[in-house]
Amino acid sequence: MKIPYLKQFPNNEGYFGKFGGAFIPDAILKQMKEINEAYDLIAQNADFIAELRKIRRDFQGRPTPLYFAKNLTQKYNGAGIYLKREDLNHTGAHKLNHCMGEALLAKFMGKKKLIAETGAGQHGVALATAAAYFGMECEIHMGEIDIEKEYPNVTRMKILGAKVVPVSFGGRTLKEAVDSAFEAYLQDPINSLYAIGSIVGPHPFPKIVRDFQLIVGIEAKEQFYNLTGELPDIITACVGGGSNAIGIFGAFIDDEYIDLIGVEPLGKSESNNVIQGSHAASLSYGSEGIMHGFNSIMLKDENGNPASVHSVASGLDYPSVGPEHAYLSSIGRTKIATINDKETIKAFFELSRLEGIIPAIESSHALAYALKIAPSLKGKKILVNLSGRGDKDIDFIVKNYGYGDSI
Ligand SMILES: Cc1ncc(COP(=O)(O)O)c(C=O)c1O
Repeated sequence: MKIPYLKQFPNNEGYFGKFGGAFIPDAILKQMKEINEAYDLIAQNADFIAELRKIRRDFQGRPTPLYFAKNLTQKYNGAGIYLKREDLNHTGAHKLNHCMGEALLAKFMGKKKLIAETGAGQHGVALATAAAYFGMECEIHMGEIDIEKEYPNVTRMKILGAKVVPVSFGGRTLKEAVDSAFEAYLQDPINSLYAIGSIVGPHPFPKIVRDFQLIVGIEAKEQFYNLTGELPDIITACVGGGSNAIGIFGAFIDDEYIDLIGVEPLGKSESNNVIQGSHAASLSYGSEGIMHGFNSIMLKDENGNPASVHSVASGLDYPSVGPEHAYLSSIGRTKIATINDKETIKAFFELSRLEGIIPAIESSHALAYALKIAPSLKGKKILVNLSGRGDKDIDFIVKNYGYGDSI
């Protein structure tokens, strides 16, 4: 009998094929080993599982709905379009799924403080929420550019009692926020936990975050079957670090006839004219390389260092990607597509105007790709992971694109 994919990967050293691992100094390796052992212990523990289930139901509001987007489907006149509504998860995005789990792990390990980076601010808000829930200290590192762009989330983090540390070096976005947060964690790894915001970083983070996000796909699979009597033909999800994508893909990896499509940000580029520095499509245009303690596919500059990147979505402008996505695309189990800023903003307004749902700019990438392929796929069903809601983005959108009339 075939061993289910999720039982095979990662291996004990945190590898998905040649991707993953833990490329960090020995002193930190010890901390990572402790985190891994603690996680493996509680992941099997009935009390931990019961507490997490209760949190998901009573605090997060799970399961989130699965929604048939009838107006979009009618307009695009092809494949049926369905949305997994992670925008309705408490705090407005999928990020709380792993934050509550990471905080529960931190509590079990006797940690007092949670530290993390954030791009769009959704992971920061989710972690600040988890810290408030468990009565822990919280420190969030965020690039100055993202602070300006995603200001509503900065306010939310502060209201929730978190300390927000502005990051003013380098590109002042997500990559530098990770550098800064990791530095802060190294000051006191005994009392703090670096609760990373995606399936990136050294082993065991890609495994832990993946496992906590799998609930998205598990729910979606049952809901889709109950609603339609079958499973989707295609699933799309945006890919920054890759946590929402693996969350929904995870439950379908062994259903090999289902197309799993990760959508990367092409930024200001066009597909026939891709300019380095103007996009963050790591899997599409990157090569093998190590950064932030893991081996994956990354965008490099001429010296082999992480390239500068751009996306209209702060949560997607990262020059690498979770090692599991590097592996899944290398074996052909996932396909990778790209959507640029312009197509993203168009999809943002389409969903807002046609269905009454304002999506996060990140999630709008996954939707935009679904809208692109839907007209030629009559009779098929596309499931889109709507990873978050766009309340955080409205000021930025109106300032830069007005009310979408000229798009
Ligand atoms: C709503 C939303 N979707 C997606 C992402 C991208 O992260 P990931 O690729 O880990 O899902 C973010 C990151 O901030 C986000 O806020």
